[in-house]
Amino acid sequence: MIGVTGPYLYIGSLRAEKIAEEFGTPVYVYDAELVEENYLRLRRSFRYGNLEVMYACKANNSVEILKHLRDLGAGLDAVSPWEVALGVRVGFRREKILFTGTSVTVEEMKFVRGELGVLVNVDSIPQLRRYGKTFPETEVSVRINPGIGAGHHEYAVTGGVTKFGIYINQLDKVEEVLREYRLRLVGLHAHIGSGILRPEPFVETAERLLKVAQLFRDLEFVDIGGGFGIPYRPGERPLDLDYLGSRLSSLFEEFSSKYGSVKLRVEPGRFIVGSAGVLLVRVVDIKEVEVGGTRKVFVGVDSGMNHLIRPALYGAYHEVVAVSKADRPRVLTADVVGNVCESGDVLAVNAQLPELEEGDVLAIMNAGAYGYSMSSNYNMRPRPPEVVVRGASAKLTRRREVLEDLLRVFVEL
Ligand SMILES: Cc1ncc(COP(=O)(O)O)c(C=O)c1O
Repeated sequence: MIGVTGPYLYIGSLRAEKIAEEFGTPVYVYDAELVEENYLRLRRSFRYGNLEVMYACKANNSVEILKHLRDLGAGLDAVSPWEVALGVRVGFRREKILFTGTSVTVEEMKFVRGELGVLVNVDSIPQLRRYGKTFPETEVSVRINPGIGAGHHEYAVTGGVTKFGIYINQLDKVEEVLREYRLRLVGLHAHIGSGILRPEPFVETAERLLKVAQLFRDLEFVDIGGGFGIPYRPGERPLDLDYLGSRLSSLFEEFSSKYGSVKLRVEPGRFIVGSAGVLLVRVVDIKEVEVGGTRKVFVGVDSGMNHLIRPALYGAYHEVVAVSKADRPRVLTADVVGNVCESGDVLAVNAQLPELEEGDVLAIMNAGAYGYSMSSNYNMRPRPPEVVVRGASAKLTRRREVLEDLLRVFVEL
């Protein structure tokens, strides 16, 4: 649980302020029980029994969370060879991992398929040829671009006219290459975007994929990708998961009764971890300026776009909570800004906050997905630690970077 009681923000049963004191700021904090709840909520919305939830670890690759999801029975969606390697190291069974890359080299496929023994989900016809030449007479999966795209921002749309997948009107080419290299197509896949709050694009994608599936008789799974959105703004309507789960279950039941059972795979990242994480930061500087008679306030914190790039990259909204003043009137309108030398370095624009002072801890809410995993060392800033909370216990699972971590890669210094 992550929520406010009285003046305090709690993560599990711990006060966020206490976690910040113990581990320092900035710090990413995840609630393992909430991760589990989100995972189970998603599973429960599908009536179709032959379902596999492939967690998209690009959203959050905390090893603690990966282990937890592995133990709950999840598979793994990996988009780079090293994500695959991490999944194998964490103990995901190879057959429960799918590698979906883009602009993939032969060397990468040799590593994933040859060394790690993980199924490759191919993104283009030329890649399928390269795969066939390298691994003839083996199993393969293909990513179809169904001609539908959706997402919370244009950069998060991955279906339609984008670089992703084999366009749905190129199936004759797929069949040709499969024949040429005697490949067995075991999976059909699509991923149309991220942060989608309407069920319709998923239903349409499934309909199109299942039509394609009728052409291929060796199929073991049809994977409709991830992209299940979560509400970030107050008042935003959540995705109607029950409706979506029920519609998709009907489509797969109908297909299976005609053509034999096929596994339905989904690849959620954001839905599982997004709401289960916060970034705790500390106020270090409050700057007030008068612009044309209006007061503008910048609340400077000890973090920034290098730790959470979503506001700078997508104009994304994250609610900000003053963790020990949560019940005070929100009388202050301010931009929460970071310590990176860029004007775009914002965590929140026009946030509604209580009066603040230096030293206050703020929680940037819903930061569990695409937070740490998109962070960088820009400006020679270290990445923050990660802490996983279970009830009343808080465990450091990734340490804060130190100067030596950043200097180690230079060949000469
Ligand atoms: C291939 C693939 N699958 C799944 C996902 C997970 O998306 P989301 O976190 O929106 O569920 C992504 C992310 O864009 C992806 O590229």
